[in-house]
Amino acid sequence: MPYGEKSLLRFAATGSVDDGKSTLIGRLLCETRSIYEDQYAAAERSSLRRGFREVELAYLLDGLAAEREQGITIDVAHRYFETPGRKFIIMDTPGHVQYTRNMVTGASRADCALILIDARNGVLTQSKRHGFIISLLQIPHLVVVVNKMDLVDYAEDVYARIVMAYQDYSQKLDIHDIVFIPVSALKGDNVVEKSENMPWYDGPSLLHCLENIHVAADRNLVDFRFPVQYVIRPHQDFRGFAGKIVSGTIAPGEEVVVLPSGKVSTIKSVTTYDGELQEAFAPQSVVLTLNDDIDVSRGDMLVRKKNLPQAETRLDAVICWMDEGASSMSTAYIMKHTTRHVRAYIRKIIYKVDVDTLHRMQADTFSLNEIGRVEMATAAPVFFDPYKINRATGSFILIDPLTNNTVAAGMIRGVPRNIRDVRGDGAGTKGVVLKSPNAVWTGWNIPREAREERNGHRAAVLWLTGYSGSGKSTIARLLEKRLFAAGCRTMLLDGDHIRHGLCGDLGFSERDRQENIRRAGEAAKLFFETGDIVICTFISPFIRDRQFVRGLFPEKRFFEIHVRCDLETCIRRDPHGLYSKALAGEIAEFTGIDSPYEEPPDPEIVVETDLHSAEQIVGILLQRLVEEDIIGRDV
Ligand code: ADX
Repeated sequence: MPYGEKSLLRFAATGSVDDGKSTLIGRLLCETRSIYEDQYAAAERSSLRRGFREVELAYLLDGLAAEREQGITIDVAHRYFETPGRKFIIMDTPGHVQYTRNMVTGASRADCALILIDARNGVLTQSKRHGFIISLLQIPHLVVVVNKMDLVDYAEDVYARIVMAYQDYSQKLDIHDIVFIPVSALKGDNVVEKSENMPWYDGPSLLHCLENIHVAADRNLVDFRFPVQYVIRPHQDFRGFAGKIVSGTIAPGEEVVVLPSGKVSTIKSVTTYDGELQEAFAPQSVVLTLNDDIDVSRGDMLVRKKNLPQAETRLDAVICWMDEGASSMSTAYIMKHTTRHVRAYIRKIIYKVDVDTLHRMQADTFSLNEIGRVEMATAAPVFFDPYKINRATGSFILIDPLTNNTVAAGMIRGVPRNIRDVRGDGAGTKGVVLKSPNAVWTGWNIPREAREERNGHRAAVLWLTGYSGSGKSTIARLLEKRLFAAGCRTMLLDGDHIRHGLCGDLGFSERDRQENIRRAGEAAKLFFETGDIVICTFISPFIRDRQFVRGLFPEKRFFEIHVRCDLETCIRRDPHGLYSKALAGEIAEFTGIDSPYEEPPDPEIVVETDLHSAEQIVGILLQRLVEEDIIGRDV
C-alpha cells in the first residue's frame, strides 16, 4: 500500500473561509512539512509504470472514481500530509451555501470532522447545521476548533461560553466523541504545538489530538460486503471482480453468495497491486476471483452466506436534499446504492427537521439543504445494512433522471414501521396469513390435485398489473373467454368489480390499496384451491403488495404479468374519464398522476399494449400457459 504501515485518518474540515479554515489547513500542511502530496503522486506514477490496470489505480483514490463516473461534482479538495505516526487526508469541504451537498458527499467517508468556530462570533446556526449533519453521517469523532483566540485575548471565559453553548446543542445529537480545542490558526497557538498563551487549557494541540484519534475500532470488520465495481476480463482464462471491501474481511477459500442471484461460490484469490493476499479487509480495494464460473456483474454484491444484508423495496431513511428544485413524490429517481442503480420514489415525508431547534415539521416537499425522514420505495430490492452499522451499505444518493443532478443523499435506518407491522414475525417476503384468535386450520377438504385432475388442467394465477387504462381488463376478458371456450375452469377478479362488495369499503390510500390487494389475493387463493385458472386485474401499484400475493401461491403457479403501456397513452385512452378528473384535481391519489406506480422488477411476463393487439397478447399468454404445463396443447 502506498500508505505504508502508518494508520490513516481522514478528516473533513468544515466552516467558512471567514472562520479561518484555510489558514488552519495551511498551517497544518506547512508545519508538518507536507511532502506527502508529492510522495503520493510518485506512488501513483510508479504503480502505473509497473503496469497496473487503470481500474485498480482508480481504486487507490478510494472510490472517488466511481463518483466521478456518476457525474457527481464533489466540491471537495483532498490534501495529504503526514507525521511520523500517521498519515492524514483532509477533505476540505467549502462551507458556503451548498454546504449540505458538499459535506454529505465529501465528509461521509471521514473518520473525523472538524468544525471551526470563530471565537468572536460564537456558535452560529451554520456550526449547528454542520454538527447535525456530522451526527447524521455518524462521523465517529468531532473536533470543535474555536479559532481566532488571539482576537479575544486568549480569554478563557469566551472559550468556555462557546463550549457550553455548543455542548447544549450537541448533546441532543448522536455524537459520541466530541473534543473542543482553542486555537489561533494565524499565530499557530495549539495547532501543532501547545500554546503558552492559554495556560488555562490543559488539552492537547489539534495535531496531537488528530494523531491520537482511534480509528480502527470505528470500522465495521464484521459484515463482509463487496459491491462489484468492475468485471475484469483481460483474457479468456481470467475473470476477476474489482471493487472495494466496504466492510468486513475476506480470505481465499471462504464461501460467498452473489446478490441478487443467490449463487454460491468460494474465493479463489484476493489480489491487489502488491500481489496476492492471504486476507484482505475494509477499506481495501481488491480484485477477487471465484472458484466457480458463475454470473457476476457490476452492481452485484458478494457477501457471506451466513451474514446477509437486508433485502427490501421499502426503506426508512433520512435524506438531505441538495438540489435547487424541490423534491417530488411522483418522480422516479435513480437511487445509487453501493455500485448499483435502482429506480426509487420518495413515498412519504415523515417529517422535516428544523436544524436550529431540532423540531420536527410536517412537509410535502424538501427544498435545498433541507433534511428529514422519509419512506422510500424502490423498483428492485436494495441490499442494505442500517447506516448505523454500515456506512457504505446504509447510504445512497438520489439522482434526478432528467437533469442527472444528485438531488439528495440518504442514510437508511431500516424498514418503515408500517411495513414491519403488516409483515409480522419473520414472515419475510412471503405472504402473511392473518388469522383470528383461536381459529384452527384443518386443511382443504378436497385436495387441489384431485380437482385439477377432474378439471383436466392445472390451477394458476395470472396477476395482471399496470396503470389504469393500460388494457388489463380487455386482455383478461378475452383470455378468460378463450379458456372457458376450451373447457377450462376460470375466474376473473377485476379490480373495479372487487371494489363493488368485497372491497367496497376501501379507497385509494396506500393502506387501503394494500388491504384491497390482500383481500384480492386471498380471494384468488380460494379459487386457485378449487383448481381454477384465476385471472386478476388490479393496478396493484406497489411491489410489496404484489410480493405479498405472490407469497400466497406455490412457485410456477403465479404469473406476474406487467401490462405495460405508456402513461401518456393511458391518459389518452382514459376509458372511464378518470384521468381527466384526476388531472383536474377532482380525484386524489390517482395512480400515475399523484400516486406512484412501482414497475415490477422481475415479472414472469411483460406485454405491451401500445405495440400489440389484445388478440396477439392473449395468444402469447395461452402459449405460455402451455409451455408452463398449466393447460394442454389442444386448448
Ligand atoms: S389498486 O391500486 O388498489 O390495485 P384497483 O385495481 O383495485 O386499484 O382499482 C383501480 C380502479 O379503480 C381503476 O381502474 C379506476 O377505475 C378506479 N379508481 C378510482 N379512483 C382511483 C384512483 N385514485 N387511482 C386508481 N384507480 C382509481
